[in-house]
Amino acid sequence: MNQGSRAPFVVAHRGASAALPEHTLAAYELALQEGADGVECDVRLTRDGHLVCVHDRTVDRTSSGTGLVSEMSLDELRELDFGAEGAPATVLTLSELITLVLDWRTRPTKLFIETKHPVRYGALVENKVLAELQRFGIATPASADHSRAVVMSFAATAVWRIRRAAPLLPTVLLGESSRYLGGSASTTVGATAVGPSVRTLREHPDLVDKAAAAGRATYCWTVDEPDDVRLCADLGVSWIATNHPGRTKALLATV
Ligand code: G3P
Ligand code: CA
Repeated sequence: MNQGSRAPFVVAHRGASAALPEHTLAAYELALQEGADGVECDVRLTRDGHLVCVHDRTVDRTSSGTGLVSEMSLDELRELDFGAEGAPATVLTLSELITLVLDWRTRPTKLFIETKHPVRYGALVENKVLAELQRFGIATPASADHSRAVVMSFAATAVWRIRRAAPLLPTVLLGESSRYLGGSASTTVGATAVGPSVRTLREHPDLVDKAAAAGRATYCWTVDEPDDVRLCADLGVSWIATNHPGRTKALLATV
């Protein structure tokens, strides 16, 4: 690890999703029990305006049903099983996930919320995310470090919307291209962190120092291989998203 830098914080990607079905309450509870410093979720809007934690446009891969999330009501989604054999699970709302994270009293953890685009409801997604964070009293943190929520997107416009409406909330501009992440886009939208994939980081490790020089943190995804965990620690990455939070915490304790 770089002298003077601390170990990366570990973010459970879709919960402890290597062990349990992604985006389920059980997967997030396990991640927190395993010591994750934060949890990541993707959010989408239902037809009747509820934010749910679902990665894909459709529910086909992750539930017992089929169809577009944007065309289903929350009640219709609640009819489906998002769990595994013998361990059924209902769809998780963002509200339920925020409640879990804020109620986790053993230590303060962060929630990394990713908005997906392009989507039918456009900017309404960020508006609803902000309304939800306001409802829980976490939309205006004292500082980025103290914030319980971080909003992320591959869409620069989405990051900009959050920055404009809630300047104190930390944001991550996600991307695959080092030219994009190392260029002016993150400055233009006011992102407080850049979010390269681990593949991009392997090819362009200088991204971390470049971001730091501009006052930005680095969030790297999805870091499951031990060599990549060590690379992130060596480079001084601030946050690593992984499907294996427990194993990753244990590994980082040794580097
Ligand atoms: O944490 C960022 C990462 O989740 C982005 O990719 O497809 O897993 O949402 P994806
Ligand atoms: Ca994601």
